[in-house]
Amino acid sequence: MLVVLVGPPGSGKGTQAKFLRERFGIPQISTGDMFRAAKAAGTLDQRYLEIMDKGGLVPDQAAIDLIAKRIDADDCKPGFLLDGFPRTVPQAEALGELLAKRGRSLDRVVQLDVDRTLLEERLIHRRTDKGTGHIYHLIYNPPPPGAELEHRADDRPEAVGKRLDAYETMTAALLPYYDGKGLLRRVDGVGKPDEVTVRVLAALE
Ligand code: AP5
Repeated sequence: MLVVLVGPPGSGKGTQAKFLRERFGIPQISTGDMFRAAKAAGTLDQRYLEIMDKGGLVPDQAAIDLIAKRIDADDCKPGFLLDGFPRTVPQAEALGELLAKRGRSLDRVVQLDVDRTLLEERLIHRRTDKGTGHIYHLIYNPPPPGAELEHRADDRPEAVGKRLDAYETMTAALLPYYDGKGLLRRVDGVGKPDEVTVRVLAALE
C-alpha cells in the first residue's frame, strides 16, 4: 500500500498516520519529522531551520532527496504512508519518477479537509511528547500529568498563519494534480480523531 496524506497544517495528518501505521504495519514517512530530527541532531542546514521556524517551505530538492533515500529502506517494501510529502507539484512529479523507476506507483492520495479557524486552534494548542512523539491537544486530547512536552517553534501564532498561507498558495495545487490522475479522495477531517479514522479507512478501500 502506497498512500499520501495531504492536508493543511493541523488537519490531523500525523494523528491519522500514526493510527494507519499500526493498522497496516507500514512506516509513516513524515518529511517534517525528518527535518525536525535533523534539527535536534544539529545537522539541519541553518537556512532550512529558519524557513521552518517561520512557517515557510524548505526547497523542493531538500525534501525530494530525503524521500529518495528513505523509500529504499527495507521497511518500505510492503508499502508506506507519506505524511507531508509531496507538498508542491514539482515534489509530486519527482515522487512519480522515483516510484516509476522502482516499478511502483501510488494507490491513493487522501486529503483531510478542515476549516482554517479550527486549524489555528488545533495548532496553537498542540503539544508533542518529547520521548514518544505522541501528539496531544491541550483541550481536546490533554497530555497526562508529568509528560515532558514540546511546543513546536512553528506552532507559535506568528508562524501558524504563514504555514496556512503556504498551504493555500503552494500545496493546494496538488489536489487538482492528483484528482486528474484519479487518485484523490477527500475526507472530512472535522470530528473526533477516531471518527475521522473511519472515514480515512473508507477512502482507502
Ligand atoms: P510538518 O511536520 O509536515 O507539518 P504540517 O504539514 O504543517 O502538519 P502538522 O504536523 O502541523 O499537522 P498535522 O496535519 O500532522 O496535524 P496533527 O495530527 O499534528 O512540516 C513542518 C515544516 O517542515 C513545514 O512547515 C516545512 O517548513 C517543512 N517541510 C516538511 N515537509 C516539507 C516538504 N515536503 N517540502 C517543503 N517543506 C517541508 O494535529 C494537529 C493538532 O490537532 C494536534 O494537537 C492534534 O491532537 C489535534 N487533532 C488532530 N486531529 C484532531 C481531531 N480530529 N479533532 C480535534 N483535534 C485534533
